[in-house]
Amino acid sequence: VSDGRLVVVSNRVAAPSASGASGAAGSGAGGLAVALQAALKARGGIWFGWSGKVSQDSNAPVQERTHGSVTYALSDLSRRDLDEYYHGFANRALWPICHYRLDLAKPSAPDSAGYFRVNEFFARRLARMIRPNDVIWVHDYHFIPMAAFLRQLGCANRIGFFLHIPWPSPDVARALPAYDRILRAMSAYDVVGFQTEGDAENFRNCLVQAKAGRAGGDVWREAYGRRFQVDAFPISIDAEAFAEEARVAEKNVLVKRMRASLEGRPLIIGVDRLDYSKGIRQRIEAFASFLEQSPLAAKSRVTMLQVTPKSRSEVPEYAKIQREVAEQVGIVNGKLGDVDWTPLRYINKVMSQSALAGLYRIARVGLVTPLRDGMNLVAKEYVAAQTPDDPGVLVLSQFAGAAQELHSALIVNPYDIEATGAAIARASSMPLAERKERWGAMMDVLRANSIDNWTARFLQALGGDAELADSAQ
Ligand code: UDP
Ligand code: G6P
Repeated sequence: VSDGRLVVVSNRVAAPSASGASGAAGSGAGGLAVALQAALKARGGIWFGWSGKVSQDSNAPVQERTHGSVTYALSDLSRRDLDEYYHGFANRALWPICHYRLDLAKPSAPDSAGYFRVNEFFARRLARMIRPNDVIWVHDYHFIPMAAFLRQLGCANRIGFFLHIPWPSPDVARALPAYDRILRAMSAYDVVGFQTEGDAENFRNCLVQAKAGRAGGDVWREAYGRRFQVDAFPISIDAEAFAEEARVAEKNVLVKRMRASLEGRPLIIGVDRLDYSKGIRQRIEAFASFLEQSPLAAKSRVTMLQVTPKSRSEVPEYAKIQREVAEQVGIVNGKLGDVDWTPLRYINKVMSQSALAGLYRIARVGLVTPLRDGMNLVAKEYVAAQTPDDPGVLVLSQFAGAAQELHSALIVNPYDIEATGAAIARASSMPLAERKERWGAMMDVLRANSIDNWTARFLQALGGDAELADSAQ
């Protein structure tokens, strides 16, 4: 029996609070924290990352605490580190560029330096904790250079990397500050995973164009003197568990209140962090276009609920979209509402997964229309939450990774407002037989690729799953 442990590394860690309640430290929810929570629960291990707190003393010791089979190892960051690494490089350069928003990219030399410095800081702390047989799994764009620093510190462990956001085509990726260094840093991993085959292929093309790599089989690459695997591992949810959660949540007080307030009127739902990548403005326009073009919709007083926790508010581009959406909601309600009807209900609260499950279930239409998204778990959750006898319809952007799997959704181009409005109309009046058929096909996809499957496939590629299974026994 080996003594290897699974060590998960991510900036955002869903550490339980002192009271034991779980949730991503200091944030609204996000797909990464939700998915990794599920992956670690099944296997146990260490979850290493940022505490969500700013500290005067950047050398405060790692805070370790254990809940069940998971040990959380968290570090505070200084204000400067947080600003340069997280608000700066990660969320003003990597995020916009990987989401094809070159217009929003604000690269800066201090932010680049801060990004690599903070990665080295975390790598040094991690290097002190790991044992030779541990399998290390690094997540997302905050920590791309983690393995390169660990290797410099002599770490020979298996190290995998999974990118939760899109990886753009070479023409766009080349706009990344420190592009060459980032490409090279990726080669320090043993497995580099992406959400879709398209993203993986974009990355392989980046290696080719940089004259850095050559193919050694379908998924193997040799670049910068190392051999590693580049493949797609589409992330997912536990559909059965989510469906059960949704069944139970029919009794949730908040869900009951929502249902009562609708007074039998149909509900359309959108759930997103307040992020410009989510296409919230275009979606609201499409909803307004639907109301204006479909007399029946206005007559039946359709309600759209948009659940939108604020996110990354200290980043100027996020502060801007927050103001814009709030203004737009006021304009649409002012124009289309009535004394006894608010077409758009807009909420900035973080909701529990259980409340969301119940709300998805009572919504006739789920609107998931990002301009770009790595995967989008909300799309999968909406499908899993439906009542088999009377399922709702998913309207899904062609630019979400989920569209590569959920072919039976109504797929839309979110930039085309009228077409999206027409898709909302079609979804709202879709006959039961077609709804059931589309829903059944999507549930089959979700059942075939569960979150457990995702974790197992990645760890198998990394060559560590058998060892970890041994040590868990
Ligand atoms: N979520 C939540 N409460 C909220 C809003 C969202 O728990 O108020 C969860 C949602 O259920 C989903 C995740 O946050 O699991 C969002 O993941 P997704 O992949 O859709 O988008 P991301 O935020 O990661 O870009
Ligand atoms: C996306 C990213 C995650 C991130 C989450 C929430 O899902 O891929 O890495 O944790 O958004 O964003 P935040 O900046 O609050 O961690």
